[in-house]
Amino acid sequence: MDNQIVYLNGEYLPLADAKISVMDRGFLFGDGVYEVIPAYSGQLFRLEDHLERLDNSLRSIRLQNPHSHEQWRNLLARLLAQGLDQSVYLQITRGAAPKRDHAFPQNVTPTVFAMASGINPYADHDNGVKAISTEDSRWKLCDTKAITLLANVLLRQAAVDNGCAETILFKDGYLTEGAASNVFAVIDGVLMTPPKSPAILPGITRDVILEIARKNNIPCSEQAISKTDFKKASEIWVTSSTREIIPIVELDAETIGSGKPGAVWKTFYKLFQEYKQSIR
Ligand code: PDD
Repeated sequence: MDNQIVYLNGEYLPLADAKISVMDRGFLFGDGVYEVIPAYSGQLFRLEDHLERLDNSLRSIRLQNPHSHEQWRNLLARLLAQGLDQSVYLQITRGAAPKRDHAFPQNVTPTVFAMASGINPYADHDNGVKAISTEDSRWKLCDTKAITLLANVLLRQAAVDNGCAETILFKDGYLTEGAASNVFAVIDGVLMTPPKSPAILPGITRDVILEIARKNNIPCSEQAISKTDFKKASEIWVTSSTREIIPIVELDAETIGSGKPGAVWKTFYKLFQEYKQSIR
């Protein structure tokens, strides 16, 4: 692991040798943004979408993108092992300033880090996972993929403490997303997910699922979902780049649908794998 090659500020080097200053604003303030991009058989999945979201995150924190999309493509490709399914994590912070001051430092070079990891998409057709729900305690910039993730960390840990895989969040009685995922529900036969807004991260997996639904004439809708309606769902899924589509079969100790991955999930599992195959 320590001799895994990672990228840091223009160099490819073993993980154990990748060092940054303790004055880095990522370390001191969580002042940075990140992306997580899956790669199937060594091919980055929906890279342009991830890089556009990165541009939006950087714009939101008023930091210039240090690289063009073409430079990112080449930089990340060198981290991938040919033929393997992996995910790439990349992070840009505002860099190391001479002194700790909340306001932006002048003339500081951003810190750029990237590494590849193994990926383990959800594929169990016989069992789903459990989730809890709670009030969304996060801030108003949830559409920025900021490394400032303390609220998400505490929310995910609450799930783990309860023997669950994810915490599903509600703001003022309406569904937002998961601690590290977007959320879908099948309600009255329609696949639903909350619309894009500053209250959720615009997930790339979420976009792919909606595209697949529309292409296959499967009824779907981006709409506000109240907690009362959500509790009526026959299927609930959480989605992310690293786990793809995960069926939730128990929410707050209550069974969802049949208590097994549902028929709509099985359809989407198949369609999602076919889509991945088509771009390999
Ligand atoms: N997280 N919402 C939140 C809060 C997330 O952290 C994530 C993903 C998503 C799903 O987005 P996408 O489909 O683009 O991965 C939604 C990544 C995987 C992470 O933080 O590791």
